[in-house]
Amino acid sequence: MSKYRDAILSLLTKAQPNYLSGQAIAEQLNISRMSVKKVMDQLKLEDVSIDSVHNKGHRLNAYPATWYTGILEGLLSDQQLITRIQTYDSVTSTQDVAKRTLIDHSDTMLILSDEQTAGKGRFKRRWQSAKGRGIWMTLVLRPNIPFSMLTTFNLFISLAICNTVQQYVDEPVSVKWPNDIYIGDCKVCGFLTEMIANPDGIEAVVCGIGINVNQQLEDFDTSEPIQATSIRLHRDNDVERYTFLHDLLINIEQRFQQFLTEPFSTIKAEYIDVSNIWNRRLRFTEGQKQFYGKVIQIDDDGFLHVVDEEGNLYRLMSADIELP
Ligand code: BTN
Repeated sequence: MSKYRDAILSLLTKAQPNYLSGQAIAEQLNISRMSVKKVMDQLKLEDVSIDSVHNKGHRLNAYPATWYTGILEGLLSDQQLITRIQTYDSVTSTQDVAKRTLIDHSDTMLILSDEQTAGKGRFKRRWQSAKGRGIWMTLVLRPNIPFSMLTTFNLFISLAICNTVQQYVDEPVSVKWPNDIYIGDCKVCGFLTEMIANPDGIEAVVCGIGINVNQQLEDFDTSEPIQATSIRLHRDNDVERYTFLHDLLINIEQRFQQFLTEPFSTIKAEYIDVSNIWNRRLRFTEGQKQFYGKVIQIDDDGFLHVVDEEGNLYRLMSADIELP
């Protein structure tokens, strides 16, 4: 595989919808036109739709159905959130790949795979990750913040994901504290945040995000306890995953910046507004304890105040909440 393949795809992506001449590509990369042609021919044999016209050059016609690092590098060149992008056809879990990669690399990363064979959810649950149907990704971020600040990270990220999904469906999209996104009473996205720390503080925040994008009903294993949905089930046509990912990362970058500079109280009203946990009986699991109760409020630190059916009060930092 040519080492210029990613660079060529990135240039084609940035040039869209225009053509880029073989000569211009060759000059920018300091390679021969023959090398450019070889890469183009190889990409066309895969599922990359490139239009090559004499005297005009080459143009990327449409995004392919699988992830290409070079295309993402071109598409995401306008953001500062991520410096390293790695894409895979299939991995056990992007979370595992991210944790292995961050040992040797100190940059920020996006790890993305078309399929996960052992996708992980919170509380050691399995995460269904059908090939080519969703966004299965892990972000490695490097915020220079005290441990205490991390408690509200998920709340900012929730809004970024919720707002992005809402751009693609008409039905209201909601957030289920602390880590889930719903359409109606079905889960469309879950994410988990892990922290890698050293004696000096936080080394990395490893945020794994799973979004059900283009699954049809038959793509879901209905024996799973949590009712799942996809964005596609609430639209008439498939979602173009590259564009969706671009929109998502713009929103995450903006919310991450906000997380670094503003307290949770700034977004609290907005968060309450899109939350689906108010005025209903919920089942809470916190460690070994399980109880039914209602949410009273979310405080400025992002903790949930809950009352159970015996009148006991709880202040929860994290828990598993079910909508019975
Ligand atoms: C949950 O709802 O329990 C969290 C689900 C998180 C799933 C994502 S998919 C990408 C990343 N890799 C994993 O194995 N898990 C996360």
